[in-house]
Amino acid sequence: MFKDKKVVFSGVQPSGMLTLGNYLGAIKNFSAFSDEYHCYYCVVDMHAITVRQNPAELRRRTYDTLALYMACGLDPEKNVLFVQSHVPAHAELGWILDCYTMFGELSRMTQFKDKSAKNADNINAGLFTYPSLMAADILLYQTEMVPVGNDQKQHLELARDIANRFNGVYGDTFVVPDPYIAKTSARIMSLAEPTKKMSKSDENENAVIRILDDKDTVIRKFKRAVTDSGCEVCRGEGKEGIENLMSIYSAVTGKSFEDIEAEFAGRGYGDFKLAVGETVADSLAGVRSEFARLSADKKYLEDVMAEGAGEAARAAQRTMSKVRRKLGFIEPKRG
Ligand code: TYM
Repeated sequence: MFKDKKVVFSGVQPSGMLTLGNYLGAIKNFSAFSDEYHCYYCVVDMHAITVRQNPAELRRRTYDTLALYMACGLDPEKNVLFVQSHVPAHAELGWILDCYTMFGELSRMTQFKDKSAKNADNINAGLFTYPSLMAADILLYQTEMVPVGNDQKQHLELARDIANRFNGVYGDTFVVPDPYIAKTSARIMSLAEPTKKMSKSDENENAVIRILDDKDTVIRKFKRAVTDSGCEVCRGEGKEGIENLMSIYSAVTGKSFEDIEAEFAGRGYGDFKLAVGETVADSLAGVRSEFARLSADKKYLEDVMAEGAGEAARAAQRTMSKVRRKLGFIEPKRG
C-alpha cells in the first residue's frame, strides 16, 4: 500500500465509551498523518483484558471503536485499521520483549500503580507487563512516530528503552519511536475534578464528555463543570477547571489562550461554559452521525478489520523474521 513512507502507529483500548480526552488527545490527530505516513491504527483488545471485561460488551466496543476511527475521519483506503488480537505477532513479540524489560522498569510505571490501586482484587501479570505488549505493538511496524496523549508518555519512553536495549545486544533491529503529543489537548481533565485526567472508566458521568453524547448532554455537562469562585476567563492558581475548558475550546477552535481571554473578557463563566459546550457538541455532530451509519454495517466493519489485519500481519512478519534470526530461533517452514 505505501512504500518508502515512514510509519505512524497508535492504538486505543475498547474498554469503555470513548471520551473527549481520547478524541482531542489522540484520535482527532490521527488523520493528519494519513497522507505522509504509513499509518497503522489498532483497536487494542488484548490490552483491554488486563482489566475484567464483559465479553459481549468488549465485542461490541471493538466494533464501535473501529467505527469511531472511521467516523473521526480515518479512511481505510489510506490507513491500516485493525484489531490487535487478529495479528498474533503482537502477543509473540510481546513475550519476547518481556524478556528484555526489567521488573524495576515495569514497577515504576505510574499507570500500573494507578490501575492496581483501582483493581486491587485483580493485579494480574498482564497488567504489570502491559507496557512491553505496547512496545511490541509499536516496534513490530518499525514505527517512527506514535501520536498519544500525555498519559502514555512514560510507556513510550519505556518502548524506546526496550528498543535501544534490544538493538544494543543484537544490532539494529527496531526503529526507535518518538511520541507525538499534541500541545493544547495532551491532557484533558475531568469536568468534576479538574486536577484528575478525564478517563473512560470514571464512574461519575458528569465528569466525562463521551464522543457520542448528544448535544443537550454535552451542554448540560459543561454547564455543571467544576470551576472556581472567580469570574474571569483566564489561567492562574486554583483555576484548573477554567484552564481545562480553555484547553478544550482552544483544541476545537484553534484559538490561542490570549484570543480566548479577549473573547470572554467581562462575560463570566456561564457564557463561557455555554460557548464551550455548543462548540464541542457542534464539532462532534458529524462524528456522531457518521458513527451511527458505520456502526450499523457490521459486515463492512468486518471487511475493514480483515483487510487491515492481513496487511498488518504481512508487515509484522517481516519484523518477526528479523527478530527470530537475531535471537537464534529457527524460522518455521511455511506451507
Ligand atoms: P487509551 O485507550 O487509554 O487512550 C487512547 C488514547 O487517548 C489518549 N487519552 C487522552 N488524551 C488527552 N486527555 C485525556 N484525558 C486522555 N485520555 C486518554 C491516550 O493517551 C491514548 O493516546 N496504552 C494505550 C493504548 C495502546 C497504545 C499502543 C497507544 C496500546 N498499544 C501503542 C499507542 C501505541 C491506552 O491505554 O490508551
